[in-house]
Amino acid sequence: MAGATPSQITNEGALSAAQRIPAHRILKGTAVPGLCVLLSACEGPLSTLAPHGSGAARVASLFYAMITVAALVWLFVMALAVFAARVAPGENSERTGRKFILFGGILLPVVLLGTLSWWSFGLTNELLEPGDGLVVDVTGERFWWRVQYESESGPVISANEIRVPLGERVEFRLRSTDVIHSFWIPSLGGKMDMVPGTVNRLVLEAEREGTFRGACAEFCGLAHTLMEFDVVVMAPAAFDEWLAQQAGPAARPPTSLASRGLDLFLQNGCGACHRIAGTAADGRVGPDLTHLGSRRSIAAGTLPSEVGPIAGWISHPAAVKEGVLMPPYPMLDSDELVAIATYLESLE
Ligand code: CUA
Repeated sequence: MAGATPSQITNEGALSAAQRIPAHRILKGTAVPGLCVLLSACEGPLSTLAPHGSGAARVASLFYAMITVAALVWLFVMALAVFAARVAPGENSERTGRKFILFGGILLPVVLLGTLSWWSFGLTNELLEPGDGLVVDVTGERFWWRVQYESESGPVISANEIRVPLGERVEFRLRSTDVIHSFWIPSLGGKMDMVPGTVNRLVLEAEREGTFRGACAEFCGLAHTLMEFDVVVMAPAAFDEWLAQQAGPAARPPTSLASRGLDLFLQNGCGACHRIAGTAADGRVGPDLTHLGSRRSIAAGTLPSEVGPIAGWISHPAAVKEGVLMPPYPMLDSDELVAIATYLESLE
């Protein structure tokens, strides 16, 4: 390049680069991997592009509009680049350059980005409009979700699973005890940060019965990726029935093994952190276990709610979830672990 003039560098460099790399290879190199990444995110339990809630459907529409506008702008710019480099190479007047900057560099971006921003901010406000009455308090803990409903029989405390009635705008009040988490149910609607010291709101409406998945969407520590939860959307009458059942105390141990499990649970001090309504266990530090057996998973969506995984979890929680606050119980032998797990699993 030594001794070359600036115009030679620009024009010759642009021409030779365009001639060396054919257009179809450029397309293959960028469009194909891009399309694969896009398509791989279209399905699955945490996909925003498989909406089952009114908010999620509107977020997906905004996404498709943004991606369409971006693709059109990209095609337009590529067409101009090919035109300038291959079809009509050469100098343009300063007047043409100014016009191009005014329309392509200022006017077009202001109109396009302004319209999309207006749509986006409007949608955010719509997602915060008041709900139909049901309020669910959710608190981000280390690393699980504390869930509380208000019912006619008093508060219903649960964890790591949320149930909502179909077709009702449910208001979530979101809190955090320590660091910032983010509450996100991709198939139902937008996400919202949970910030210590403040209460954030999010209103979601499910449009289909079924079980969906939620996750923490803000890095919050070692087990951030193991902080998920199930969302069960039920018919309104079934939801009311379920809520009334959850407001009641825990079931009595159905077998002698489960009964031994309850004794061991209390003897080993588990009740200092966990509550099981109707027993002496009244701890509020960890998840409420009153109806653990009715939940689909334990440890915030990490393990199935079955005897084996529950026993393994009690023995060494950190082996499953690094950074968890629950201590290990290596002093319990396998028979004792199975007895406790059998009791907990029976708590429908
Ligand atoms: Cu909680 Cu990430």
